Amino acid sequence: MNNSELTMNEYKTLILFGTRKGMTTETVSVIAGILKDRFSHIIDISDTKQIRHYKKIIHEYDNIIIGSSIVSGRWKSRILSFAKQNIFANKRVAIFVTAGGTLNKINKYGITKEAAVNEAIEKYIEK
Ligand SMILES: Cc1cc2nc3c(=O)[nH]c(=O)nc-3n(C[C@H](O)[C@H](O)[C@H](O)COP(=O)(O)O)c2cc1C
Repeated sequence: MNNSELTMNEYKTLILFGTRKGMTTETVSVIAGILKDRFSHIIDISDTKQIRHYKKIIHEYDNIIIGSSIVSGRWKSRILSFAKQNIFANKRVAIFVTAGGTLNKINKYGITKEAAVNEAIEKYIEK
């Protein structure tokens, strides 16, 4: 591997997420693992407790991944407020939700995974 290939992949990525009972931490570990192992990203991870700190140093990151668990149809409010802020110019931003109730419909009602994922995107990300 030459030098230009090395620097090309050294993206710095911040994952900030909201959780109520900790399940979303597992989802974040999977995302971080893939970005680290397959794409050589340098990853920092935080739940909502350190949002103020990361807001101050957001300029250090190329990519920001923002996510929340969905409980009673809602994001965790602190991470939702963060996502709505106008501080992401020149950054690539990705959004995810953990919506166990919606994904459960695959087993419960036999809907396809694609339909369940589309429902979660429409209800909890696009709206
Ligand atoms: C009280 C309660 C309400 C929930 N409401 C929803 C919901 O409205 N839609 C949904 O898709 N999943 C819902 N879920 C499933 C959660 O999204 C799922 O359990 C998630 O993994 C919780 O993550 P957390 O522990 O990181 O907060 C609900 C779960 C609980 C316990």
